[in-house]
Formats: sequence, structure tokens, C-alpha cells
Amino acid sequence: MSGDVVDECRDGREDDGERVGRRDDAVRAAVEQGLLGPDAPIVGLLDVKGIRASAAALRRAFEAVAAPGTAILHAFAVKANPLVPVVRLLAEAGLGAEVASAGELALARAAGMPAERTVFDAPAKTEAELREALALGVAVNADNPQELRRLDALVHTGSTTSSPLGIRVNPQVGAGTIGATSTATATSKFGVGLRDEGAREWVVRTFAERPWLTRLHAHIGSQGIPLSLLARGVAETYALAEEINARAGRRQVDTLDIGGGLSVNFASEATEPTYAQYARLLAEVVPGLFDGRYGLVTEFGRSLLARHGTVVARVEYTKSSGGRRIAVTHAGVQVAPRTVYVPGAWPLRIAAYDAKGRPRQGAPVVQDVAGPACFAGDLLAEGRALPPLEQGDLAAALDTGAYYFGSHYSYNSLARPGVYGFAPDGDGGVAFAVVREPQTVAEVVAESGGAHADALTTLRASESR
Ligand SMILES: Cc1ncc(COP(=O)(O)O)c(C=O)c1O
Repeated sequence: MSGDVVDECRDGREDDGERVGRRDDAVRAAVEQGLLGPDAPIVGLLDVKGIRASAAALRRAFEAVAAPGTAILHAFAVKANPLVPVVRLLAEAGLGAEVASAGELALARAAGMPAERTVFDAPAKTEAELREALALGVAVNADNPQELRRLDALVHTGSTTSSPLGIRVNPQVGAGTIGATSTATATSKFGVGLRDEGAREWVVRTFAERPWLTRLHAHIGSQGIPLSLLARGVAETYALAEEINARAGRRQVDTLDIGGGLSVNFASEATEPTYAQYARLLAEVVPGLFDGRYGLVTEFGRSLLARHGTVVARVEYTKSSGGRRIAVTHAGVQVAPRTVYVPGAWPLRIAAYDAKGRPRQGAPVVQDVAGPACFAGDLLAEGRALPPLEQGDLAAALDTGAYYFGSHYSYNSLARPGVYGFAPDGDGGVAFAVVREPQTVAEVVAESGGAHADALTTLRASESR
């Protein structure tokens, strides 16, 4: 192996070349096997081999820089792809789960994720949710002083818990390129803002008064946060842990939860940045983080899953308006709300396939790729140069495995598409497994109050009596 190849493997980029081939095979096989067609005009596809490769790259990257024996839990941020089989796949790959709601906690449990590999981080946890987490032994990071008082009460009721407990801090190191995913701004709603007057001293005192607090947590932000800013936030959190431990005269903070936030390169197939780059930067900027004195928790979401998901939608019609060519497809705001509402921040690459699922060839022409929803802005891509899409073709929205089709938006009562995992079948073909059944129209009605059709009319009748 040349030095370059060794480096690539260490960086987790080794899968970049093969991923496209696997995706093309899967689209063709989805058509051949009837998962996609006139009566199933949209699906979400998940590349199981790719997901495993990313999980392995993450583990390798941190193991490469940490002292042997360092306890490292990579807790997948379930919000990025809240599907039970996905969480089970990652559990089997040795990862944990970071959950931010009672629903996500239940999903992680349904996936069989062990409590000791689960971290509960929501900003608005109810008392009952905290009680449940402590009863289960799930790690909890308190977001603010009021939540800490709830933990105080639970800890002091004498109920023993194996839950590691910590506080989420906000190092207030600033924003990245996308405001909505920047959590370390001065006025962020998350955690205890360390630069606010008296806040740092409050945290140090709070740990001194509560020997059961053993963790510090910070998540600096998600897409659009440069590595250097992530590292700065982690460095400040580490420095605070050192201060707490110096004041306590013991290693009270034994674990640092450094959150997730590695950005995904939505502009091309190249994995950039890589977990290895981030881990090496952290080792350079915060060497003490990896010297074996601290256990580590990470909470990556997008960087683990985005690349491995593809929404594939049939082109129902093509038309032209005002000189603009438009392909009207079945993928729009319901599977890609961020891209549709904030296209500048969340552009997606689109791949064109013919009706048989073969990559469409042809000189690119400028066209819009529109969704099925009833507003003009429901566009997956606007003015994009692509091989000309024809009626019955397929448009694939790439890199949608995190925060896209897993998190359906039910505008226009558009049904949730089926999600299928795919993997090579060992015979040169592609095998699929149902991850989530396509939602039926009857289910849409049921979750839209179908069982309560006369609830409002009878209420009015009884009021007027
Ligand atoms: C607390 C916390 N941890 C982890 C994540 C996952 O971030 P990402 O998907 O960018 O890795 C998020 C995302 O919102 C988060 O809020």
C-alpha cells in the first residue's frame, strides 16, 4: 500500500469511490424488484454497508488518538435518523444512542440499545422523563439550573440510580455558517452559558456541592461549524473540567461528552472533513482529552448517516413554464423540509436516472426539480443543470440519510415513503430489507383525527343547548 492509500483508509475516505456504484445498483434493483414504480413513486434507500463503514471509521479515528484503554462511547444522535432498525444496526456496530425526547428514548430501547450506552440530552425534559431516565440508568445531562434542581430532588428521594449525571455547558465560542444549527452562540437556548457573568463559578460550585455530578457536556453545533470552532468549544469544556477537578481535589468529572457536529460535504462525493481529521485536531488542541484521565462520549448524527441515504422519486410530469424546464416529482418538502424552506443553506445534489433506474445520460439542461406539495417554493433544486429528466424517470436526492426522509414533515398530508435498507446479496445483486413500511392513506386519515370525525360538530351542538 502506498502512503497515500494508507492515509485514506485511516481517514475513512476509502468508501467514497464504491458508494456511488452501490447506490446506482440499488436504484436499478429497486425498480426491478418493484419497490419503485408508478404506484410506489417515492422511496428512501439506506446503504447498510456504507453505514457500517462510517461507524467503523468513527471508532478507528478516536481509538487512533486516545490512550489505550480510554472508555469511548460514540452515541449516535437519534434525531438524525430516528428509525429503529438504524439504531439497532449502529448498536451492533458498537455505538450508543444520544436521545433528545421521550420518543427517541423509546426508539433506542425498542432497538435494544443498552441503557449504559444511552445519553439523554433534551432541552425540555419533564419530571417524569427525568425519573424514567434515572430508573433506567440512562446518562442525563442537565440543561440548566432548574433542571438540576429536579435532579437534586430525584437524587435526594433516596432512589439509587446508575445514571451518570452531568451538566450541559455552552462555551459561547460563536456561530458557524448556519445560524439554526449553531448552538454555542452567546444567546443560545442550550446549556449554561459559560461566559455569562457568574456562570462559570456557578458550575464549579455546583459540582463541589454535588459529588454525584461526574460529567460535562457541550455540543457546539452542527452543519456549518468549522473544525477549529468545534475544537475551541471542546477545549473550553476540557479546561472547565480541569478547574472543577482541581477545586474538588479529585477526578470528579470523569467523562467529557463533546457532542457531535461534524459537517457533511453536500457539494460532492468526497468525505470532507473526516473523523480522523477531527480527532487529530482535537488531539493537537486538547491533548489532555486523550491521555486516559477522561472517558469520552461523542454524539455524531449527520456525519454518520447523511451519505448513506437517498430519496428516489418518480418524475410524474415534465413541463415548461416561462422558458424553465420543470420535472414534477414526488419528493419535496415532506422529505426535505430544510432544503425546500432554506435552499441556500441546505442544497442537495440530484442524480438523474431513467425509468429503469439506469443513470440518465445526456447533455445537461437547466431545470427545476419540483416536489408534490402545493406551494411554489416546493423545489428540491432550482435551475439545476442535469441530464434532461423525462416523464417516468427517477430523480434521486443524494446525502439525505440524516435529517431528511427519516424525519417526515406531513404538509399536504403526503404519506411517509417506505424506507428500505440495501446491501449486496452476494450473487452480484442487491438485497433489500424493509426499515419502515410506506404509510397508507388510511393511516394518514387515522393520525389526522379520523377516529374523532364528529368531535367538533358534537361539541358545538352541546354548547348551543
Ligand atoms: C445535543 C446534540 N448532540 C448531537 C447532535 C448531532 O449533531 P450532528 O448531527 O451535527 O452530528 C445534536 C444535533 O442537533 C445535538 O443537539
